[in-house]
Amino acid sequence: MALIQLIYVSSLSDIKLEHEIGKVLESSIRHNKENAITGMLLYANGNFLQVLEGEAEAVGETFTRICADPRHYDIIRLISEPIADRHFSQWSMGYQHLSENYLREFPNYAPFFKFHANDEAIRAKPGIALELLRQFSIDNR
Ligand SMILES: Cc1cc2nc3c(=O)[nH]c(=O)nc-3n(C[C@H](O)[C@H](O)[C@H](O)COP(=O)(O)O)c2cc1C
Repeated sequence: MALIQLIYVSSLSDIKLEHEIGKVLESSIRHNKENAITGMLLYANGNFLQVLEGEAEAVGETFTRICADPRHYDIIRLISEPIADRHFSQWSMGYQHLSENYLREFPNYAPFFKFHANDEAIRAKPGIALELLRQFSIDNR
C-alpha cells in the first residue's frame, strides 16, 4: 500500500468552457470517493493546478483519465512522489477559484496561472505548488 501525491498544471481548452468546471468537480468527487482519492483543484485565468493523493495505482488510473479529458490541455506533471500521510484527507476534491486580488497579493504563486509564459519557472519550483495548494487544505473548509 503505497500512498503517492501527484501535482500537475493544465489549461482550460477554451475559456467558454468555464461553466463546465462545476461538472468536472461533480464527477471528480464521485469518482474520487470510489477510488479513495483526495486532493484540491485550483483555477484562475484559464489555468488549473491540481493535487491528487491516494494509492499509486488509483492515482495513476485517475491521472490517465484526467489527461484524456479534452476540456483541458498542456498538462505538465510537476510532482509525483511517495508521501507518508495525506495532506488533503478531508477533501474528495476541494475547489477554489483564485481571484486576481489573491494572485496580486501572492506574486510567488501567479506563474502557475499564466504558465505558458512561465513554463521553466514553474517546473523549477514545484514545491511552491504544494505550498499554494496547502493554503487551502485547512483554511477554507
Ligand atoms: C481539470 C480537471 C480535473 C479533473 N479532476 C478529476 C479528478 O480528480 N478525478 C476524476 O475522477 N476525474 C477528474 N476529472 C474528470 C475526468 O477527466 C473525467 O472527465 C471524468 O472522470 C469522467 O467521469 P464521468 O464521465 O463519470 O463523469 C478532471 C477533469 C479536469 C478537466
